[in-house]
Parts: sequence; structure tokens; C-alpha cells
Amino acid sequence: RTVYLNGQFIAENDAKISIFDRGFMFADGIYEVTAVLGGKLVDAEPHLARLRRSLAELALVLPLDDDALLAVHRQLIARNALCEGLVYMQVSRGAADRDFLYPPADTPLTVALFTQDKAVLDSPLAKRGMNIIGLPDMRWGRSDIKTTQLLYACMTKEQAKARGADDAWLVKDGWVTEGTSNNAFIITRDGAVVTRELSRALLPGITRGALLALVQEHGLQLDERAFTLEEVKNAAEAFVTSSTSFIYPVVTLNGQPIGDGTPGPLTQRLRRLYIDHAL
Ligand code: PDD
Repeated sequence: RTVYLNGQFIAENDAKISIFDRGFMFADGIYEVTAVLGGKLVDAEPHLARLRRSLAELALVLPLDDDALLAVHRQLIARNALCEGLVYMQVSRGAADRDFLYPPADTPLTVALFTQDKAVLDSPLAKRGMNIIGLPDMRWGRSDIKTTQLLYACMTKEQAKARGADDAWLVKDGWVTEGTSNNAFIITRDGAVVTRELSRALLPGITRGALLALVQEHGLQLDERAFTLEEVKNAAEAFVTSSTSFIYPVVTLNGQPIGDGTPGPLTQRLRRLYIDHAL
């Protein structure tokens, strides 16, 4: 693969980062994952807008404008002949002697991008649906910032796997916040699409935002509010959204079927609407 590191397109084996990089030592960095379908970026603009917001929250000043960032994304897609998958972008506060305080503002940031192949359209999970478990949300209080501090997501995905499930939904104070790396949705028995309202407790997913626009455009009932695992158990359907899944149905919670335990019809319709929007 050809990757991008600090202004250069190079072979992945030549891309080296300092052991003093604050991304490595403190997870002092932010990232974006943008889907690629048919060789094109999906919803590039809102991804760049969220990247800017993450940078601002961490007081990182990136000397590249949106056009330059888009050009890097597109170059990587072309150089790697990527058709379906994703572009990953990470910005860290760069390398400096280990100190909790931020280094001088002129310390160069580390900017790295790479592509990854992933078959999302034909994923087996899209067809069979995901089995999820509920786990406590023990993340920090700023889950709305897309930082590289993803250890809890790794730990909970491992726990889900150890219990024979595909993923976990996180629960705080009795309410579902989101999935480990996706936004959580249910469809109630009277057909309302329910997902938690945005706050510092969850990531403002770009797929979530695009889907909510489609839900409204098609006159479906939308309810942005928190819900409990009990409501998930009693829901007609459930699903997740993310740039690496688009929409995957969720068919069981803690081993119990949701609805009839197969991907729901409205979920499948929404997945098709989303893919049409993305293509
Ligand atoms: N994860 N919530 C969390 C905690 C996430 O990590 C993600 C994305 C989402 C969905 O956001 P979006 O629709 O913008 O992808 C929600 C990415 C894909 C990842 O870490 O791989």
C-alpha cells in the first residue's frame, strides 16, 4: 500500500513515527474514517467538518485546508486503486519529550492517512445481522470527540467475542448510549425509528446524520431519545450505523431475539436507501 505521512506519499513499510509521538504515548490525537464506494468518498464534507470540530476540541491547528485534505484522500484512493473500503486519517500532537502539558504550538503535528479494503455491500453481517450484548459504558465523558483513545472499545469488542457475540451496546445510567464503534437504533412496534439524541455521551455519527435525513425525507416517524435495553428487547427491529458498516441489522440482544430474530424489513429498506444515497 501507498500511505500518506506528513506531506509525503510513501510505501507503508517506509512510514515511521517517533516513539515520542503523543498519539502513541497519550492517545493525544483524533481520527476520521470515511467510507469509499465505487472509488468515491461517501459524505466527505460532513467527515471533514467533524474532523475540524475534533481538532478544535483538542486545540490542534492543522496547516492543511479541506481542499488539500480531500486531495490527499483522493490521491490515496487512486494510488491504491481502492474501490470499496475506507480512508483512515489520524492527526496527533506530534513528537515531544514526555510531559502531560501540550508541547510548544510550533511542534509539527503527525498527519497520517491510509486506505483499507473492506467489502461492506456484501458483508455477511448485512445479511445475517449482528448478535449484540449489553455492557456498561465506562468511557470518559467526551465520547462526542473522535479521539484515538479507543481502548474501551477494544476491550468491549473482545468481551462480546468471548461471549460469542458480534458487538456490544454500551449502557450508562440505564440508557443505551451507542455501540462500541457505531450508533444504535431501534424501530418500535408502531414503526418509529429511535436513536439517542446527540450529547457529550456519544459520537455524532456521519452515517447516523445522513440516515436521519433520509428517514425524514421519506416521511418515516423519527424519535431522537434515549432508550433502555428493555426497550431493545421489545423492539420490532434494531440496527447500527457507521462508515464501516453503513447499516447492519441487529437480530439478538444478550442471546434473545429482537422481533422475530431476523433482519427487519424496515432496517433492510433503510439500508438500501442509505446505499443509494452513498453511491
Ligand atoms: N467508528 N460511535 C462510535 C463510538 C464510533 O467509533 C463510530 C465510528 C460511530 C459511527 O460514526 P460514523 O457513522 O461517522 O462512522 C459511532 C469508526 C468507523 C471506527 O472507529 O472505525
